[in-house]
Amino acid sequence: MSSEPKIIIAIDGYSSSGKSTMARRLASEIGYRYIDSGAMYRAVTLWAMRHGMVAQGVDPDVDAIVAALPDISIDFLVDGNSQSTTLNGEIVETDIRTLEVSNCVSPVAAIPQVRHALVRMQQAMGEKKGIVMDGRDIGTVVFPDAEMKVFCDASAERRAERRYKELVEKGAGVTFEEVLDNVRTRDHIDETRAEGPLRCADDAVRLDNSSMTIDEQNSWLLDLYRSRISSLG
Ligand code: DC
Repeated sequence: MSSEPKIIIAIDGYSSSGKSTMARRLASEIGYRYIDSGAMYRAVTLWAMRHGMVAQGVDPDVDAIVAALPDISIDFLVDGNSQSTTLNGEIVETDIRTLEVSNCVSPVAAIPQVRHALVRMQQAMGEKKGIVMDGRDIGTVVFPDAEMKVFCDASAERRAERRYKELVEKGAGVTFEEVLDNVRTRDHIDETRAEGPLRCADDAVRLDNSSMTIDEQNSWLLDLYRSRISSLG
């Protein structure tokens, strides 16, 4: 594989549409770096929550969060096939996945200055290509020239089922209705924000994976990657 050209692979889509699982698997299969851009928005949100700058049902203190951006450092610790998000050096992989953070993240991710700062970091991560990044605006804003773009979708109910199962497996005391409500609210905020809204890039391949297994998604994605690479000669 080493003689193949390195490309940028952008995988966007709705929350819990299974994009992270497929993106991570593809990256490990083809030896690329995987970046979960949602984890970066979650880490900024966690920091703001810990500093009383945002809470569930309370609008974020935009000025305070923007002023604090230079103090927030986000990175990924890679250990074999697993990857942990770090916030100022602390591993926060579990803390950023709670429903509390999910409930606060969309308003924080809608702050233009937060987006600009994270988009710059994400573009720097892709400078050498050989990267799979998933998110909402990767194919439209972060890497508009990405050689391969996928947009994932599935019904809100199907996505909420997946998220609910994950949270229950982690021991979280949540109801299905709470999770479905969170999925729908985040869809709405993500689609309607002024800066980097969630939308399918014109040149992205759409995938509705509502009734696909993880293995089916993975082989679909790998086939698409192979055809892109062969078309690049
Ligand atoms: O993919 P996720 O559910 O972990 O993302 C968390 C939140 O971050 C989501 O509500 C929208 C936001 N996000 C974003 O605005 N832009 C991205 N590139 C990735 C995530």
